Amino acid sequence: MAKLIVANWKSNPNTLREAVKLAKASDFKNAIIAPPYPYLESVGRILKRAALGAQDAFYKGGPFTGEVSPDQLKNLKVKYVILGHSERRRYLDETDELINQKVKTALRAGLKVILCIGEDKAIHRQGPAAIKRFLSNQLKKDLHKVQGTRYRVQNLLIVYEPIWAISTEKGSKPDTPAQAAKIIAYLKWLLAKSYELRAIKVLYGGSVTSRNAKSFLARSEIDGALVGGASLKPGEIKKIKGL
Ligand code: 13P
Repeated sequence: MAKLIVANWKSNPNTLREAVKLAKASDFKNAIIAPPYPYLESVGRILKRAALGAQDAFYKGGPFTGEVSPDQLKNLKVKYVILGHSERRRYLDETDELINQKVKTALRAGLKVILCIGEDKAIHRQGPAAIKRFLSNQLKKDLHKVQGTRYRVQNLLIVYEPIWAISTEKGSKPDTPAQAAKIIAYLKWLLAKSYELRAIKVLYGGSVTSRNAKSFLARSEIDGALVGGASLKPGEIKKIKGL
């Protein structure tokens, strides 16, 4: 099955001109381009092969200054939304409870949700059992009552993104493909067992570049990659996809 590459531009670039250039260089099948809100419409007009994604969504529209609702995104032709990214959990104090509400309303609005989970360095140091315990707990809260047709769970994707592996973290390095594959296999087992989610895609994120993408994507357990820093270089998505 074709692997998915999600380009998370985070709060980059600074100008629409650069965003347009980057979008043109990143427009490939099975890629999802997630620019900042102000560029969504222009980038959406450029993309012919890749799908348009957003980096967050609030759980409703109305009197919520500064927020953007799932319906507004849908109406801009956004197909995917990243929720629960560790940077939002950390810098904006997003709780699992808030993320759970966002997951539910985004799914109900018909968006495909890319839910990010992952442990920090302190938990990572405690070893596999602690990592699995943490991830299972995070999923339990983020997916609270998300089962059932009401929420179109078939539109849910998970990203295992260990925080310590994100390129902008001090002293970061990518997880090993073998270790990431093991955790992802565990997550798939857990999703099937506890949530009846059997065909769900689970991606890896954290310092994926054109230099190491092949080793992650070659693993059958890993269904794709969430790419931050490297996705800002025109030409990288093409190389990551091996084109
Ligand atoms: P990097 O690819 O820069 O490590 O970022 C990962 C990430 O946070 C993607 O959402």
